[in-house]
Amino acid sequence: AAPGWVTDADVVVVGSGVAGLTVALRCAAAGAKVTVVTKAHLDDGSTRWAQGGIAAALGEGDTPAQHLDDTLVAGAGLCAEDAVRTLVTEGPGAVRRLIATGARFDTDAGSGAILLTREGGHHRRRIAHAGGDATGAEISRALIQAVREANIEFVENALVLDLLTDDAGRTAGVTLHVMGAGARDGVGAVRARAVVLATGGMGQVFSATTNPAVSTGDGVALALRAGAEVSDLEFVQFHPTVLWLGPDAEGQQPLVSEAVRGEGAHLVDADGVRFMAGQHELAELAPRDIVAKGIMRRMQETGAEHMYLDARHFGAAMWEQRFPTILAACRAHGIDPVTQPIPVAPAAHYASGGVRTDLHGRTTVAGLYACGEVACTGVHGANRLASNSLLEGLVFAERIAVDVLAVLDSFRADPAAAPGAPVVPAPAGSPLLASEARFEVQRIMSAGAGVLRSAESLAVAAGALERLHTAAVEAYDRDGKTAEPCVETWEATNLGLVARVLVAAARRREETRGCHWREDRPDRDDDGWRRHLVVRLTPYRT
Ligand code: SIN
Repeated sequence: AAPGWVTDADVVVVGSGVAGLTVALRCAAAGAKVTVVTKAHLDDGSTRWAQGGIAAALGEGDTPAQHLDDTLVAGAGLCAEDAVRTLVTEGPGAVRRLIATGARFDTDAGSGAILLTREGGHHRRRIAHAGGDATGAEISRALIQAVREANIEFVENALVLDLLTDDAGRTAGVTLHVMGAGARDGVGAVRARAVVLATGGMGQVFSATTNPAVSTGDGVALALRAGAEVSDLEFVQFHPTVLWLGPDAEGQQPLVSEAVRGEGAHLVDADGVRFMAGQHELAELAPRDIVAKGIMRRMQETGAEHMYLDARHFGAAMWEQRFPTILAACRAHGIDPVTQPIPVAPAAHYASGGVRTDLHGRTTVAGLYACGEVACTGVHGANRLASNSLLEGLVFAERIAVDVLAVLDSFRADPAAAPGAPVVPAPAGSPLLASEARFEVQRIMSAGAGVLRSAESLAVAAGALERLHTAAVEAYDRDGKTAEPCVETWEATNLGLVARVLVAAARRREETRGCHWREDRPDRDDDGWRRHLVVRLTPYRT
């Protein structure tokens, strides 16, 4: 449909987590006209849910080089070393600038030094935290306050649809579906010379995830439809310790931060045996993929549906002071971690892959940037190191802002090159899935492409996803019918698309590496598979 309303900006930022808001603030501070569009409310994305913290070499004796080593090991041979070096070197400064923006981290009452904890894969205390275990909420609060005080326009309840390009094929903005009132309701467009995707992850592609309901892969789906390259989608990280709420639990599940293990909690089976001891030199603090596998193996060996995290020895005072969010979530579900071990099992947590970018956040489509979980900068490789995600959002957001500002300057020098009237990239030919397809996709993915995969399980998943897609295409081709465009149908469609690409990559990668675990190919194959799977679709038929 042609946009019902059009507005102009220099740069449109899609998403309002740490990545999006940092780009927006830095661009606005330099005088750019910035519009932030976000699918629900400003604080509804994943950033707010981050618990453990943000990793950076801030502690005495720690160095970016040690942070680099830990990140490369966790990434299982697939990290882009230049991207990691950028992350760890620029990280400490970026955290200090976040503090200057207003974020308040936990500090030592005496010295005022930032308190640091440990998480899986880190050989040092390197994780800064806020409110004990509410780091993301504090970062979100500080950035939203700064955005509201800056000269930044924001449009909430705005689902991004597609990229706009001008007659010369340059990025010219985005189309949106806004569920609002007043002038900006329905399908509209923000015209801008630069578009920054900061839409977060795609955890909702699985039935049980730590991700909020809005994490439906919208940015990756848009990028695929726009012909941008997407990489490493097979590397979905499953967080080892998610509160177990029963075998049929669906949707967003409460996280039990790695920092709980960082402060000394033990993983035990139903008999109280610490099964990670002896599996890795770091035991419970091994990289996340190794701990998730350790839990799954023990569940298979013992026939249990979950394991336990035992932190009774913390005592009530430490629980209340250090982990108030987790304590409240557990108690809300009838578990008291002060007196009981916490039932935990792995659940989908983080997309290590995404829209492929360079070190400036540029995608392979000129004028389109990606930042944060939606991006694949190369820093995570086959398995993200704990608490590197907020840091990646922060560091690369600052780099993108520098690049966007330079692009805007070049347009100012040559106004004739400014984007003209937008051309809507017709979604015609891409029928929408019905909203109920969301649950079908989740069931298919959890059954066939979850923490444990095999050629057989992936083939079943691929077949089921293909049937879902083909039925929609055939109905459309036969009689022009498609589901009514609305947030739910777009989300289902985006989930269906990213699921198909993810499963295709997981089938191709015939090895086990990082968080991609193939039961039928249990070994890492450095000769054949120390490489990335990059996908680019022909726009727009998806
Ligand atoms: C956690 O607190 O365990 C999550 C940290 C992360 O995902 O990096």
